[in-house]
Amino acid sequence: MPYAHITGWGMSVPHKVLTNDDLSKLVDTNDEWIRDHTGIRQRYVAGENETTSSLGVEAAYKALMVAGLLPTDLELIICSTSTPEFVFPATACLIQDKLGATNAGAFDLLAACSGFIFALNMGAQAIRSGSAKTVLVIGSETLSRYVNWSDRNTCILFGDGAGAFILQASEQPGGVQGAVMHSDGSGGEFLSVPASGSAHPASEITIHTGMHFIQMDGKEVYRFATRVMGQATQEVVEKSGWKVEDLNLIIPHQANLRIIDAAARRLKLPMEKFMVNVDRYGNTSTASIPIATVEAVQNGRLKAGDKVVLVGFGAGLTWGALAVQWSGPLPSEHFVTAEWYKPWARVRSLFRRISHGVESIFSGRGE
Ligand code: COA
Repeated sequence: MPYAHITGWGMSVPHKVLTNDDLSKLVDTNDEWIRDHTGIRQRYVAGENETTSSLGVEAAYKALMVAGLLPTDLELIICSTSTPEFVFPATACLIQDKLGATNAGAFDLLAACSGFIFALNMGAQAIRSGSAKTVLVIGSETLSRYVNWSDRNTCILFGDGAGAFILQASEQPGGVQGAVMHSDGSGGEFLSVPASGSAHPASEITIHTGMHFIQMDGKEVYRFATRVMGQATQEVVEKSGWKVEDLNLIIPHQANLRIIDAAARRLKLPMEKFMVNVDRYGNTSTASIPIATVEAVQNGRLKAGDKVVLVGFGAGLTWGALAVQWSGPLPSEHFVTAEWYKPWARVRSLFRRISHGVESIFSGRGE
């Protein structure tokens, strides 16, 4: 059975930074309160032309560059997102088109902030089963579009961004060693966007009562998160035949510094074992773990051979963890890079759109 190695990684955030001081001009809050209660100093928010797919594409190109692959090498694209551009088509398909990943099937996965863990596990299983050799897993969010900017309980927490991993098959032992995934739908109301889905389609009432915005019972989510982070880490470590003391690094979902601190105390590990960057990005939901991973590699905190656990929790309720023996890029077989491929991908997409129109005329629809 082949092993699923993480051979490429990339991240992307919007241009605009929103500091705590900026937020204090929108709602009754202040920098000190936000830093004390969450550890967040700033977050990035998407501009008009920045979308869940555009951020995902940027992160994906960077991951392809690290892996030394072209978009045409991809066989599967999984985009984990809670803020898709449409109910359908899937954001993964928009990304597939923009990348020019002509050989890939693409679908979205929704498990809120645990989504990247779930998606990475699905990608790894596709490789382990032999159904794919090269998989792109993306976590991308534009949560700012679902945030009620007059609700100080939620608007201080969230940010936008994207992260991407390339998974590749190899006979060399390593890569994803084990995973656990959990859900408890009975806690769904603690963190939700009540309208926009088929239960409450858009209406005058849903708009006037703010049902299209993120709603959260912060205390319940906090209690749940501090309980499951340590539990899931312990569980995946045991499942992979490791010990918690063996871990070089834990990369947790970046929701709140206090939640990460509580997990560290539960696992009896020092905070130095945890990758933390929530101060600069806020909670970017499913993008937070890959963004933190990219920074861990860039800062030299994650090296080939290291044992690392990625652990997340979120709406659903969902939670999960993944144990990975970090590898790095496999030897590349290409002389051109994914970056060079970008203009061709744009032309290809345009050509496909034109040819759909031409086909429709010749098949009689244009009459
Ligand atoms: N600025 C200033 N004051 C604020 C505030 C803000 N943004 N938000 C709440 N307050 C006030 C409250 O009104 C309350 O005042 P009171 O004591 O006079 O009534 C006080 O601060 C304490 O509020 P509380 O809600 O008890 O704060 P908290 O310590 O529970 O922290 C969260 C709130 C949201 C930071 C915390 O509950 C949390 O992080 N929950 C988990 C959220 C999460 O991670 N969600 C995403 C999961 S993927």
